[in-house]
Amino acid sequence: MNNNISPIPANPDGGPLKGVRGAMLTFRDDPFRNPAESSYDYYADGLAVIQDGRILDAGEYNDVIPSYPGLREIEHHEDALIMPGFIDCHAHYVQSPMIGSYGDTLINWLNRYTFPTEARFRDKDFADEVARMFFRQTLSNGTTTANVFSTTFEASVNALFEESERYNARTITGKVLQDRNLPDNLKDPSTEGSLLLTEKLLAKWHRRGRQLYAIIPRFAPTSTPLQLKLAGELYQRHLGEGVYLHSHLDEAENEIEWALSLFPEAEDYTDIYDRFGLIGHHTVMAHCCIVRPREWKRLSEAGCGVAHCPSSNLFLGDGEFKYREATAEAHPCNVGIGTDVGAGTSYSVIRQLGEAYKVAMLGGNPLDAIRGFYMATRGGARALRLEDTIGSIRPGYEADLAVVDLKATEFLEWRLQFADTIPEKLFVLQTLAPDNLIRATYVAGKKVFDRQRAHSLVYSSELPL
Ligand code: GUN
Ligand code: ZN
Repeated sequence: MNNNISPIPANPDGGPLKGVRGAMLTFRDDPFRNPAESSYDYYADGLAVIQDGRILDAGEYNDVIPSYPGLREIEHHEDALIMPGFIDCHAHYVQSPMIGSYGDTLINWLNRYTFPTEARFRDKDFADEVARMFFRQTLSNGTTTANVFSTTFEASVNALFEESERYNARTITGKVLQDRNLPDNLKDPSTEGSLLLTEKLLAKWHRRGRQLYAIIPRFAPTSTPLQLKLAGELYQRHLGEGVYLHSHLDEAENEIEWALSLFPEAEDYTDIYDRFGLIGHHTVMAHCCIVRPREWKRLSEAGCGVAHCPSSNLFLGDGEFKYREATAEAHPCNVGIGTDVGAGTSYSVIRQLGEAYKVAMLGGNPLDAIRGFYMATRGGARALRLEDTIGSIRPGYEADLAVVDLKATEFLEWRLQFADTIPEKLFVLQTLAPDNLIRATYVAGKKVFDRQRAHSLVYSSELPL
């Protein structure tokens, strides 16, 4: 069954046209499986024509403009690089209030900082405040789609989806399922009840506008076998509608040992999830740092997405992602980038690429910027099974765009003049990535973030068509 959300053909009677002009970069093919040089399109002076929130046409300005004599409104971004909006395949918005807490190993860090913070999300006002701040951070960093953990409580899910709707952003989230091995104030009070609440929220939010639902068992150690079984049954019932299964896998040695001790019948960590029907083509697993060959094979054959969270790997120091294993020809997986806020230390996907290079180098494997920016855009979309919808600047795709400012700082401008090729420039951008690198962010064709505007972030509904 094709349950992708497909590109929509142009409507000849559609709304007004709008143009976004400037240097543009978008991926066509996967540079992990094709020559890097031919995997992307670069338009030195590009034009994207937008109608009804979608890209109607894109290419070199001089090739595209003759077909649109009526196109009056063109926003021209000089000294910039326009890219598809970045895709964050794994983040915890509920950890925003404790990002940057003094580190420790994963399990200690969860107990000490994360769980007490997440317990506060029973309170809708608190959840609303954090959701607001989360979107202000992601959008000002050029991120237009995020696959996000909320936490146990209904309020934490509603708050994020409601804020996402105000920007008309594409967000994937859902209630986190966790019914053991956590403090009582965070634990699901009833296993059956946790699934009923999941079904209720799924019915309310999945495919409402651009919102998509994920069933989220936090990780195997914090769910009883019954909760994983019920989650797997629900996932299998809704897989055909593009509902996701989002969780953590193989992040740290002691986490893996703990998981296997709780599920001794499983062959490996992946098999714990597999036995409950949780491994499928809309499954996205975060981390995957210490993965056995059999697991890679299974994740690949099932078509799972893998979220590489490099700044989190470095922050917690528990394990490093090995992109060569994940993309090996024998069992290639669809890999995207995750910020993993708040174990990750930045909301910027571009900054994650700088860290991804360092994580790869720890294993002696350089990771070039072409492959990095692919993972940040089209590759991330593929990991989320949305590669026909977002992540590319091509006709039919949703008009989510990030405008990278090549003169964001005096030093960046100066340094870039010594970078000759596109891959070199991209590598400098990801390595230096200053705070104000993003000049503007478009969500479904509307400029919701503009660094130069008095109110830099504006809800989509408050902007003119
Ligand atoms: N594994 C289970 N929960 C978490 C979490 O909140 N953060 C990270 N990094 N790993 C996890
Ligand atoms: Zn995580």
